[in-house]
Amino acid sequence: MLNQRLVNRRSAWRALRTHYRKIERSTISQLFSDDPQRAEHMSLTQGDLYLDYSKNRLTMETIDLLVELAKECGLPEKIRAMFEGKKINHSEHRAALHTALRLPIGESVYLDQKNLMPEIQQGLMQMRLLSDQIRGGRMAGYTGRKIKNIINIGIGGSDLGPVMAFEALRFYSDRALCFRFISNVDSSDFIEATRDLNPEESLFIVCSKSFTTTETLSNALLAKSWLLEKLTHPEAVGQHFIAVSGNEHGVAEFGIDISKMLIVWDWVGGRYSIDSAVGLSTMIAIGAERFYELLYGMHEMDDHFLHVALKQNMPVLLGLIAIWNNNFLKINSVAVIPYSHYLRRFPAYLQQLTMESNGKHVDVNGKALTFNTCPVYWGEPGTNGQHSFYQFLHQGTALVASDFIGFCKPLHEQITQHNILMANCFAQAEALAYGQSAEQLRHAQVPADLVLHQVCSGNRPSNTILAKTLTPGSLGQLIALYEHSVFTQGAIWNINSFDQWGVELGKQMAKEMTQELQESLNQAIPDSLHNGSTRKLMQYYCA
Ligand code: F6P
Repeated sequence: MLNQRLVNRRSAWRALRTHYRKIERSTISQLFSDDPQRAEHMSLTQGDLYLDYSKNRLTMETIDLLVELAKECGLPEKIRAMFEGKKINHSEHRAALHTALRLPIGESVYLDQKNLMPEIQQGLMQMRLLSDQIRGGRMAGYTGRKIKNIINIGIGGSDLGPVMAFEALRFYSDRALCFRFISNVDSSDFIEATRDLNPEESLFIVCSKSFTTTETLSNALLAKSWLLEKLTHPEAVGQHFIAVSGNEHGVAEFGIDISKMLIVWDWVGGRYSIDSAVGLSTMIAIGAERFYELLYGMHEMDDHFLHVALKQNMPVLLGLIAIWNNNFLKINSVAVIPYSHYLRRFPAYLQQLTMESNGKHVDVNGKALTFNTCPVYWGEPGTNGQHSFYQFLHQGTALVASDFIGFCKPLHEQITQHNILMANCFAQAEALAYGQSAEQLRHAQVPADLVLHQVCSGNRPSNTILAKTLTPGSLGQLIALYEHSVFTQGAIWNINSFDQWGVELGKQMAKEMTQELQESLNQAIPDSLHNGSTRKLMQYYCA
């Protein structure tokens, strides 16, 4: 069955290659002239989101062939397997059931014959109790002062989701509370985040699924000493720490009472965990009801992904277009540009989601891959990015595919300024697609010696995602849209999008080197250690 699929996949892949040769010379501008209804044909609405993919270098035939490829790669079966709790994360023998966390009450989902819904609901209830207590001013610290500062300590998925969601939904947040996020093992992060805070009013959420992550545990230790410097009594720690983790033993060993621990199950990947207790800081900021709206938004996209035909399926299309750009057009760089200041951490969040999931070199069976997997994802909010890297987008020699994200209605009343913002979003996508030719420039009487400098070749692909307005629900839909696009790409490449073995080597080496650096501050680094360059760097550092 698997072999048959691989053969089929190769044939669909080949058909796409042949097709690519047929259309490689067509430009986006030509494609629009050939089909004036192109934007109608190449756009779709789902929930609060509208996706326009017409400014890509493809035709409806490309989409049909990509859908064929998806079928041959077993995408529909793979989607079902994920939703049904099959252990699709083979290398860690785990399910990837983040979609269960946003199922409405009354639904059920089974893992090893056990319905997970009761414990999911119980977890949400625990989050709600804490969040209501803090928002209602009913949680006091050791000295009796009200808790006002919520400080999330975590890294990777235990930070990027919380900080992205907090920034994105800051408009809805309780302004009587102060939120900080500490991730970097560089203690400047901790020092700057806590400098102006009173420990008596501060609550640390130590967020680590494994509770073994060096950065998080080091910062949590710093937090303990910062608290005790003022509160002096070790028993004060209990009232100022909550743990979000899957490792009871680690939490207890650190000194946080298990009754203050919220569980993250092993079937929730770190980069897919904003919908779990990892989202506690978000729930405290926006309140339980709005957090449920975020979950519901994710669920709406899940439902669409699971049930709608591939050709009308928004995450599937986004994923397939990414495959087309990456594997056929050989564009290995994707800029994600939200025209919303609230979404300024969204590109960083997406970097982990995309690159930790799909930056893989072997297939699910460990077989080396002969094609490119994940492209580089990066970005900055518009319009800021326009004044830094857009020169490269328009005239650089390397091609970049872009995802523009914008909102029809702002969360403020400065409509004129919002119009400026969105005009920039639309203009940039059009400029990338059409460019400007030497002929147009000459016609506009640009001095002859500047013409070639000003030519923009255009034909640079982009998607535009428009949401009605930024709400917890639309954010949830957007997050799930990208999660499932990442899944779609992983399914086509037949890789495991849910493990991350590549991060281990560097981590392990850093652990050993930390020890060596501590020991070597007063003595030379032994010649037997490391390569010449590293040894010299360490010596220079220790001198
Ligand atoms: O970087 C590796 C990683 O395991 C990520 O996948 C994860 O989100 C991050 O570290 C933090 O892990 P934890 O939540 O276990 O501290």
